[in-house]
Amino acid sequence: MDYKKNIDKVLYDRDILAARVVEVGRQIRADYAGKDLVAVTVLKGAFVFAADLIRAIDLPMAVDFAEIISYGEGAEIAEEVVLTKDVAVNVKGRDVLVVEDIIDTGLTTSFLVDHLRIREPRSIHICALLYKPAMQRVEVPLRYVCFEVGDVFAVGYGLDYAGQYRNLPDIVTLKEIPPEE
Ligand code: PRP
Repeated sequence: MDYKKNIDKVLYDRDILAARVVEVGRQIRADYAGKDLVAVTVLKGAFVFAADLIRAIDLPMAVDFAEIISYGEGAEIAEEVVLTKDVAVNVKGRDVLVVEDIIDTGLTTSFLVDHLRIREPRSIHICALLYKPAMQRVEVPLRYVCFEVGDVFAVGYGLDYAGQYRNLPDIVTLKEIPPEE
């Protein structure tokens, strides 16, 4: 099956992504010099972005991962957010940077930030690849954004549709969004 036939437009190609990630990585390096940085990547979507981002931050740092699954997206009922993988490193007194692929409503990230705050990090901020300000429903401590986007459905560079397209090197939109099963 030629899954690429469903690609509509390239929103951010690999060169633009690489350049912007390096730029944001340098900013983070300047802000976190002398701190005790722990980068917490939110699975699954952020893993490609995080792999590039951490290599653009020339500082000593720890890395860890959390996985969160949201149910009821787009439904009238309140979303249910479940932590399916918790962070294992001790974040107490440390400077946590949550690495997200996209901040949409903010509900997923807000849930993780509240969860991590209980463990008393010295600071906690978010670095997002994409940010949809028009969709945001809750405040989150967003400090770094690679790209602000409108209400588009983007896939690639870690972002999926129904579990597919994460391996595309560019961020693209799709011609058709088939209904999820
Ligand atoms: C995406 C993304 C964020 C969340 C953002 O995850 O990685 O965690 O949605 O949406 P929100 O701001 O409205 O909460 P998704 O549920 O698609 O899972 P995935 O990362 O495994 O693809």
